[in-house]
Amino acid sequence: TPLPTAETPLPTAELHLHIEGTLEPELAFALAARNGVRLPYADTEALRRAYRFEDLQSFLDLYYELMGVLHTVQDFEDLADAYLARAAAQGVRHAEIFFDPQAHTARGVPIGTVIEGLGRALDRSEERHGVSTRLIMCFLRDESAESALATLEAATPYLHRLTGVGLDSAEVGHPPAKFAEVYAAAGALGLRKVAHAGEEGPPAYITEALDVLGVERIDHGLRAMEDPALVDRLVRDRVPLTLCPLSNVRLRAVAELADHPLPAMLAAGLLVTVNSDDPAYFGGYAGDNYDAVREALRLAPEQLRELAANSFRAAFLEDDEERRTR
Ligand code: HPA
Ligand code: ZN
Repeated sequence: TPLPTAETPLPTAELHLHIEGTLEPELAFALAARNGVRLPYADTEALRRAYRFEDLQSFLDLYYELMGVLHTVQDFEDLADAYLARAAAQGVRHAEIFFDPQAHTARGVPIGTVIEGLGRALDRSEERHGVSTRLIMCFLRDESAESALATLEAATPYLHRLTGVGLDSAEVGHPPAKFAEVYAAAGALGLRKVAHAGEEGPPAYITEALDVLGVERIDHGLRAMEDPALVDRLVRDRVPLTLCPLSNVRLRAVAELADHPLPAMLAAGLLVTVNSDDPAYFGGYAGDNYDAVREALRLAPEQLRELAANSFRAAFLEDDEERRTR
C-alpha cells in the first residue's frame, strides 16, 4: 500500500501529550481577555519569540506562567477541543492526554473545574473528531510526595474519568522513588501507571520507575540507550517508550534531529512511539513529529508503519477498541 500523503496522514495513537502544552498563543490571548488576565507580552508574535528554551526548566517556567489564563470549565473544554481538532487533522485516532492538576489547584482553580472541562471535550471527541481518548493525571515531581497524595485524594470523586497516573515536571533531583506511596495508592484504585524518566535524568531513573513505581510505559526514556542492560530489559519486557523528537531538540536533549537515537532504538528492538509532548511550544503536533523524523532520519516506509503500529500496541486500549480505532 502507498504511504499516506500529507492529506491522508498515517493513523496513529498519541500517548505523550500534555494538554496544557497545547495552549497556542492565540488561544492564550483570547482566554486572557475573557478572564481579565494580563499577559506580560505585547501580542502573539512577542509571545512566540519567547519560545526559545535552554533546557527543560526554561520551558517549564513559561509553560506554568502561560497556563495562568486557564480558569473556567469552559476554558479547559476549549483547550482540549482545540487540541483534538488539530490532532485529528494530523492522523491521531486515539489520544492519551496528560494534565497537571497541581499547576491549577496551586492557583486556586479547583481540580473539579479542570477535570470537568477536559471531560466535556473528551466526551464529544469520538463524535466530533473521530478520536478516542484517555485521561492521565500527572503529579509534579518537583512538588512534595504529600502534595501528590493530596492530589490523588482530591481526584477520587472523578476517578471514573481517569485511566492512569503519570509523573512530570523538573526531573533531575526528583527520582521516581519519592512517589512510591502515591503510585501504590493509585494502583490500588485500579489506575494504570506511567512516568517521565530518562529525559534529562539518568537511566537509573528509568529502572527505578519500573522497579519502585511499577510503571507500564516510560515517557521519553531517551537516555535508556546509555545502559545496555536496561535496553535488554526494556526489549525483553516490551516496555513502551513514548519519544517526543521535536521536544528533544527544543529542550536540547539532543543537539539536532539528525542526531536523535530513534533509529538506533528501533534497531535495538525497543517498542518506541512518536509523540508531540507540548506541541504549541515545540513546533509541531503528532503528524509534524512523524514528518520531521521521516525527513531528518531518512526513515523507511516500513519504519514509519512500525512506529504507528507501536503506538496502538502501547495504548491503554481494549482489543476490540484497538481494532475499531485502526
Ligand atoms: N517533561 C517534563 N515535564 C513536562 C514536560 C516534559 O517534556 N512537558 C510538560 N511537563
Ligand atoms: Zn512530557
